[in-house]
Order: sequence, then structure tokens, then C-alpha cells
Amino acid sequence: MIRSLATYVPPRVLTNDDFARMVDTTNEWILQRTGIRERHIVDAGVATSDLGKEAAVRAIERAGLTPDDIDLIIVGTVTPDMMFPCTACLVQNKIGAHHAWGFDLNAACSAFTYAVTTASQMIGSGAHDHALVVGADVMSSIIDYKDRSTCVLFGDGAGAVVVSAAGEDDVGRILDFEHEIDGAGGPALYMPAGGSLRPPSHQTIDLRLHYVKQDGQTVFKFAVRKTEEISRRVLERNGLKPSDLDLFVSHQANRRIIQSATGKLGIDESKVIINIERFGNTTAATIPLALNDAVCGGRLKKGDLVLLASVGAGFTVGAVLLRWGF
Ligand SMILES: CC(C)(COP(=O)(O)OP(=O)(O)OC[C@H]1O[C@@H](n2cnc3c(N)ncnc32)[C@H](O)[C@@H]1OP(=O)(O)O)[C@@H](O)C(=O)NCCC(=O)NCCS
Repeated sequence: MIRSLATYVPPRVLTNDDFARMVDTTNEWILQRTGIRERHIVDAGVATSDLGKEAAVRAIERAGLTPDDIDLIIVGTVTPDMMFPCTACLVQNKIGAHHAWGFDLNAACSAFTYAVTTASQMIGSGAHDHALVVGADVMSSIIDYKDRSTCVLFGDGAGAVVVSAAGEDDVGRILDFEHEIDGAGGPALYMPAGGSLRPPSHQTIDLRLHYVKQDGQTVFKFAVRKTEEISRRVLERNGLKPSDLDLFVSHQANRRIIQSATGKLGIDESKVIINIERFGNTTAATIPLALNDAVCGGRLKKGDLVLLASVGAGFTVGAVLLRWGF
């Protein structure tokens, strides 16, 4: 079960009007096409492990545990502090989780759903007691602030949960999951250089290849179709209808994607969390940030049936069905 949740966003905010001063765009266009008003952005020198650490420390505390109780750390991110060591090692060191092993999980916007599933399988096998799952990204480190079609979409942030075995008195459960990848979608959303295929060079920098490149419409259509499809599949397997859900928490990439997919599923908007307005797309952090807003707003309570759903670069697609435990 998910035993605790905490999030962290850096204090500095970039508004749509700030972007209107940087590129050829307007507050109205961004708001109408994406639902985003503002996003949080790190100051120079602040990395993914720093955001992850803030969320992790609070999540562990809220679980009533200490860092020494954590035996596994999974960090979902596409913006590791550096190519290696992995960000899980950096977080482990920063929080002092001396008994944990861990690794990074690269599934872009599906990293949180994939990491929750991985952690729950590790816990379910009996191999571990308490897993820390962190979804954290500093998207501002890979965004081209001269490209109006991508720069307005993304923000920085982190979320963390502790996944533990449910006790007899716990109502919380991770009930089921469904995940898939479709590598044919790679060219629709990717960062061309910086890896082994195109190591950094003057040329890759001159060609601005160390930034996110996206075919927005292809991603949009795939996201709407797959969010609906994967949600239906996991619900049907569990004998559930979309209307049985108490809350639907989708990855926050675009308000129109979420509204279109939930409209097709027939989920009442009162059961759908949309908080992209304040954070933009924080990649691995959107789902914990949305869960946190749901908890704080009294829209997510102990015992609620919740579906998490995500679509991300890769393409990666994920859904996790769970009963909320606190
Ligand atoms: C990126 C996205 C918001 C663009 O919205 P859209 O309605 O598809 O817009 P289009 O790409 O068709 O572009 C329409 C026009 O707006 C322009 N435009 C793009 N960004 C703009 C901006 N920030 N401000 C003003 N105009 C902009 C385009 O240049 C284009 O102009 P043109 O018609 O003169 O060529 C949308 O495609 C999207 O959200 N895609 C999914 C992105 C996503 O979810 N990514 C993460 C996945 S995990």
C-alpha cells in the first residue's frame, strides 16, 4: 500500500506572462491550449536529487519511519543530476538511507506509475519492507526556452511515496496495474543528443539537440487514446466500471488531454483531478503532485478507489488501480 505521500516544488514561479516576454506567445494561447497558468522552476545549481530529497524526507517522516527503515529507493526521472551515478544513489546519500539499494527508472511521464508498480511487486514478494518511490524532474534543464511549442509546457517538481506491505488493519492496497511500451513512438518526443548515439559536441550544442523535441499533435492523440484504453483494460479486468472510481488521477500534460480521455471514459469531472494550472507538466512528479492536491483539498480519503494513469515519451503507458490507505 501507499503509506505516505509528500511533494516539493521549488519556490520560483514562471507565469505565462513571463513567457510572453521570452517567446512569441500569449497567456490566452497557453491557458486555452494547455490549461497551464504557471510552473515552478529551480534556481541554478538545484538538481533533481535536491527536489527528490525534500519530498523523500517528508514522505518517510509521514510514514512514521526513519531513513534507515527504507530498503529500496526507486527514482523515476528523465533529468538525472548527471548520467551517472544514478539519482537514487544521490538521494540515498542525501537522506541517509543507509540500508537501501536502488536505481533510477526512465519512463518519462509514466515513471511514477511504473515505479509504484515495481515497488509494490518488490514489497509483495516479501523481499523488502519499505520502498521509497520518488518521481522528480528538473525539466527546465532540458527545455529550449527559444522553442515556444515546448517551453511553455513544462515545470520542475518532485513527489515521493513510501510503499509498504498492508497490515490487517490497513484499508490501503495496490490492487492491480497495466503497463505497456510502444517504441515506435520514440521520435514523437525525445532528446536527441547527450547519450551514446550523439555524445555532446560543439555541433550538437549548435544544433540545440540537448533539448526536448516534440511532435505535439502526435503525442496529444496517442495520449488521449491510450489513457482511455489502458484505464478501461485495468478496470474491466477487476470487474469495475469507470463510474465505480472515487478518483481518477492522470498524468498532467495538457488539460484538454485529461478532459477528452475522461469524457470518453464517462468519468464525472468531480472525480478528476486537474492541477496542471499551477505546475505545468513536471513529468515524473505530476501524479504525486495531483494526489497531494486531492488529499489537501479533501477529495481523496481513506478507502477511496483510485486509478492512476499515465502516457509518456517512449511511448510509455501505465495505469495503477489502488485503494487509498490514509
Ligand atoms: C503542444 C500542444 C499544446 C500544441 O497545441 P496544438 O493545439 O496541438 O497546437 P499546434 O501544434 O497544432 O500548433 C498550432 C499553432 O500554434 C502555434 N504555437 C505553438 N506553440 C505556441 C505558443 N506557445 N504560443 C502561441 N502559438 C503557439 C504553432 O506554431 C502553430 O502555429 P501555425 O498554425 O502557424 O503553424 C499540444 O499539441 C499538446 O499538448 N500536445 C501534447 C503534449 C504533451 O502532452 N507532451 C508531454 C507528453 S507526456
